[in-house]
Amino acid sequence: MDRSTDRSSIIDPSIGVLAARIRAAERLTILTGAGVSAASGVPTFRGADGLWRQHRPEDLATPEAFERDPRLVWEWYAWRREKIAACRPNAAHDVIAAWSRRPGCRVVTQNVDDLHVRAGTSALVRLHGSIWELSCWNRCAAQPTPWRDERVPLPDGVPGCPQCGGLARPAVVWFGEPLRAADVDAALEATACDVFLTVGTSAVVYPAAGLVHDARRRGAFTAEINLETTPASSAVDVAIHGGAEAVLPQLAELL
Ligand code: OAD
Repeated sequence: MDRSTDRSSIIDPSIGVLAARIRAAERLTILTGAGVSAASGVPTFRGADGLWRQHRPEDLATPEAFERDPRLVWEWYAWRREKIAACRPNAAHDVIAAWSRRPGCRVVTQNVDDLHVRAGTSALVRLHGSIWELSCWNRCAAQPTPWRDERVPLPDGVPGCPQCGGLARPAVVWFGEPLRAADVDAALEATACDVFLTVGTSAVVYPAAGLVHDARRRGAFTAEINLETTPASSAVDVAIHGGAEAVLPQLAELL
């Protein structure tokens, strides 16, 4: 193809602007959502094939749903664990992991898939928990913190707490539940930065969706990378339309 008509070779000028800001930044914070893992094959929540198009959150992702039918909730999580286990981190995770090793970089994710962890991201705040961790449904005193269990499939349909023998639940944040205070504090702390980048999130679920606005109020240069326009798009300094797995490597090359 004639290069002059090959649009894939034209880099969005906003990417250059953002790269210059990241290069100069001493403190960089990146907020990620399901879109970052989309190229790995992990389903998003609100897209055309999103999970919330096929399922009602109140049936599967609330404490009431678990109380009503733990087996059904575990079936859904077991299906997601199986799907995610077959996925690998993509170029977006790799770039973020490399940046996370530079001083002053913090990464806050809403994703429970742990693909950032597998890519080697440091200074990671997992706002919504991890699908690879379980916790005691009864919050028993002997098992106050989540434990890791990466077995696929889990041996029992409905796993139990190793201490009290009661039900175990996925250690993720469900609708109607508070986030862990330490995670919220760390995320808010990370809004004190020079550049705040929000990537692959529909920017509708709070408190995560409020972070970019906090960062802006605190003087950060703000940017978004997303395939679509979101409620954050009009609030940020630079909105880049594109896949995270393509845009982040382009940015990394310019640094
Ligand atoms: P959503 O599914 O709501 O949004 C995914 C976003 O990623 C959309 O705005 C897409 O346009 C964008 N996207 C898709 N593919 C992309 C790609 N390759 N590159 C860049 N962007 C892409 O997911 P989240 O915003 O993460 O919470 O959802 C937030 C929370 O809502 C989740 O953590 C989950 C969900 O309900 C809980 O379960 C508590």
